[in-house]
Amino acid sequence: MQTHLTVVLSKTAFFAALSTPLAWLVWQIAIEIEAPTTALGADPGEAIVHFLGVWALRFLLLAFAISPIQKLMQQPVVGRLRRMAGLYAFAYALLHLAAYLFFFLEFEWEALLEDFVKRTFITVGLVALICLTPLAVTSTLGWQRRLRRNWKRVHLLVYPAIAFALIHLYWLTRDGFAEVVLYSVFFLFLVGFRWVKR
Ligand code: HEM
Repeated sequence: MQTHLTVVLSKTAFFAALSTPLAWLVWQIAIEIEAPTTALGADPGEAIVHFLGVWALRFLLLAFAISPIQKLMQQPVVGRLRRMAGLYAFAYALLHLAAYLFFFLEFEWEALLEDFVKRTFITVGLVALICLTPLAVTSTLGWQRRLRRNWKRVHLLVYPAIAFALIHLYWLTRDGFAEVVLYSVFFLFLVGFRWVKR
């Protein structure tokens, strides 16, 4: 049986797990400030953008995997963690965008507009982020009640959000496609699982 304590403990453990990559990154940045190029390599800005992008995608896939896991485990507490994983994915994606603006463009807004229009992988990343935004905004119980059956429809946006994030990664990968293939196979497996269960 699921007690209040189980829920609190699971949520706390999950919160700590999802915060760990960010804490690790902050630690690496602190080392980098003390001793340049020791923690984040020759181009720390690029390393930070990459790190945040990868974790945004991983947490998005994790949020997507939670419903099937919940169905297999028959534990309602698992479902409660989905919102946290989704919100973390969104937060990492926003930090990823902020890091790109800071390190790659030095907040040159004209260059940003040009990138959005001319560099296809950036346009696709933006579309993924746009798909994620209503998911994050309407993730609360209040929005769930207000939107009723439409809430599920809005949350179908998770499919294009992941698909565009994968295309974004695929387009910017120059060599070593193993990672993007692995994430894509995992995503397709989850889509298949959900479809069969439905
Ligand atoms: C406005 C939105 C976005 C912008 C401007 C953007 C920009 C970038 C840039 C500049 C890079 C590095 C490219 C390079 O080094 O050549 C990158 C990499 C990446 N981005 Fe994004 N991105 C956006 C949204 C997203 C979203 C929503 C996700 C995932 C949910 C994501 C996941 C990734 C991943 C996984 C990488 C590759 C990291 C690696 O090489 O290991 N991005 N993005």
